[in-house]
Amino acid sequence: MGEIEAHESKLYSDFAPLYDKVFAKFFYFRLRRVIESVKIAQGARVLEVGVGTGTSFPAYPRHCEVIGIDLAPDMLARARRKIRENGWRHLKVVEMDALHLDFADDSFDYVMAFHVVTVVPDPIRMIEEAKRVCRPGGRIVIVNHFTSESRLLGFVTEALDPVTRRLGWRTNLRLTPFIQATELSVETVYKLSKVSLYTVLVGANSKDGYRR
Ligand SMILES: C[S@@+](CC[C@H](N)C(=O)[O-])C[C@H]1O[C@@H](n2cnc3c(N)ncnc32)[C@H](O)[C@@H]1O
Repeated sequence: MGEIEAHESKLYSDFAPLYDKVFAKFFYFRLRRVIESVKIAQGARVLEVGVGTGTSFPAYPRHCEVIGIDLAPDMLARARRKIRENGWRHLKVVEMDALHLDFADDSFDYVMAFHVVTVVPDPIRMIEEAKRVCRPGGRIVIVNHFTSESRLLGFVTEALDPVTRRLGWRTNLRLTPFIQATELSVETVYKLSKVSLYTVLVGANSKDGYRR
């Protein structure tokens, strides 16, 4: 069994319809609460990296402008269809690599990364790019599963990593080393419920620690 990177999973190409039917349904309620909690200001410019099929779209207020980027054409095709069918003029999607963003420095007030840091091949590089395109004082908002800090659970989830990679996500990323490596200036970090597997991380952007 050859090594596979999470982002190469067929979940984001051949099985994009399955993603929408199974995962997106569960993910939406979480994303809606997170998006509401950051109270996006009137006229704000928002970038969502790894936007996929646009799970989050219905949660964005119409008073902001959102650009979603993703590398997977099949996921983007579904996102585009949702935009068209719902007449969402405040949303658009572009095919782009989150590790090499084609935007000028300080272009956005918010950069969102939902269920994507454990999918891209280099999460640290992705956050560096997010920091670059986000204006100083803007917000970087991450929702993701991180490996448990508990020794036993951490061991078990890390052991599952080769399997989950083939499904489309890694399970060997720990929260504290991730925050340290990205030098994110954490404003809040929390779980939406005691039993949630997912962590919400909101960072206030500063250019400290940004490496080109
Ligand atoms: C688990 S899905 C999350 C989609 C969406 N954010 C959600 O919450 O439903 C991960 C997404 O990251 C995308 N992705 C993986 N590597 C990427 C990269 N280097 N640049 C942009 N998107 C990437 C995949 O194509 C996929 O659509």
